[in-house]
Amino acid sequence: MATIAEEKDRMTRRIFNFGAGPAVLPEPVLEEVQRDLLALPGAGMSILEISHRSKTFEEILDGAIADVRRLAAIPSNYHVLFLGGGASLQFSMVPMNLLGADRSADYVVTGVWSKKAVKEAQKVGMVSIAATTEDEGFSRIPQQSELRLDAEAAYVHITTNNTIYGTEWQKEPETGSVPLVADVSSDVFSRPIDVSRYALLYAGAQKNLGPAGVTLVVIREDLLAHSPQGLPTMLDYNTHAKDKSLYNTPPVFAVYVVRLVVKWMLEMGGLEAVGRANAAKAQALYDAIDSSGGFYRPHAKPDSRSNMNVTFRLPSEDLEKAFVSEAAKEGLSGLKGHRSVGGIRASIYNAMPKKGVDALVGFMKKFAGKNG
Ligand SMILES: Cc1ncc(COP(=O)(O)O)c(C=O)c1O
Repeated sequence: MATIAEEKDRMTRRIFNFGAGPAVLPEPVLEEVQRDLLALPGAGMSILEISHRSKTFEEILDGAIADVRRLAAIPSNYHVLFLGGGASLQFSMVPMNLLGADRSADYVVTGVWSKKAVKEAQKVGMVSIAATTEDEGFSRIPQQSELRLDAEAAYVHITTNNTIYGTEWQKEPETGSVPLVADVSSDVFSRPIDVSRYALLYAGAQKNLGPAGVTLVVIREDLLAHSPQGLPTMLDYNTHAKDKSLYNTPPVFAVYVVRLVVKWMLEMGGLEAVGRANAAKAQALYDAIDSSGGFYRPHAKPDSRSNMNVTFRLPSEDLEKAFVSEAAKEGLSGLKGHRSVGGIRASIYNAMPKKGVDALVGFMKKFAGKNG
């Protein structure tokens, strides 16, 4: 029988979390949050209790904005905003602010999240589907030559990483002078990015940036002039740009954690280093798939593979179920694929340590050896 101490250790031990989001956070960040939870140094109270108008929080917010700017070398003509409502609210805010009833926007449809973005934009104005890979099970990102782009479009919208299918744009599409808007929820700051290629970026924090509850929006200054008069105040980017994300109470705790995560990325060596680490992790998993003699079948086409979500099938659904449950027993959790694709999905965001991926690769080899 386990002793009480052993049982307590078992219950509180961390396992490897391959879930798609909310997702793994860096351990040093969690430790700092835990250490300072009762009283933020110098403040005498918890981050959970503090006023969003306090000097302490003002410094946290300013620090978060400055560090995000530094991490991604965001040019000075962009605003960095922390909003509520998740990435899903951006599906509506983007067209409400940028589309206008008499204009059309181009959407590249590469998965369920792009389709949701299209649905919301259609409520606001005209949408043209510049390309879709739906009839191929969203297994790839379209080539530039496949995009039917309108030179007069209000903007082009893409989803840089398709969380469910495990596909990722390898480079930005060329959109000429038409502003490029991107949902970067599941690969934000996972590799170097040239922000000047985009007019607007948005990301729910809960994969690569922090806990659920805050959405990062990076918007180029000139776009603010596009918002029509009469928008609900909270849905107008101008409100948040003008009041530096403090028009109303922002998600204080989530912003605080984002600040720590971004600091952790800077300490790692910035996006070049983060990108190298992510590429190595993804390569280890794709190698395990490709060298399995067909036991593991990748969902994404080789030229569209995501470094964040690695998706694959096994020879049968029964084996997939066994894979997920046996992996969980070995402390490898959250590997069940999204219900619309099935199979296995390993989400390996920035904070997933290489040793987690190595453990999964070891398990995959063992499982294939036993069942192949
Ligand atoms: C690419 C992408 N966009 C949007 C969303 C929706 O984000 P939220 O739940 O923050 O609204 C998700 C969630 O998984 C996502 O992966």
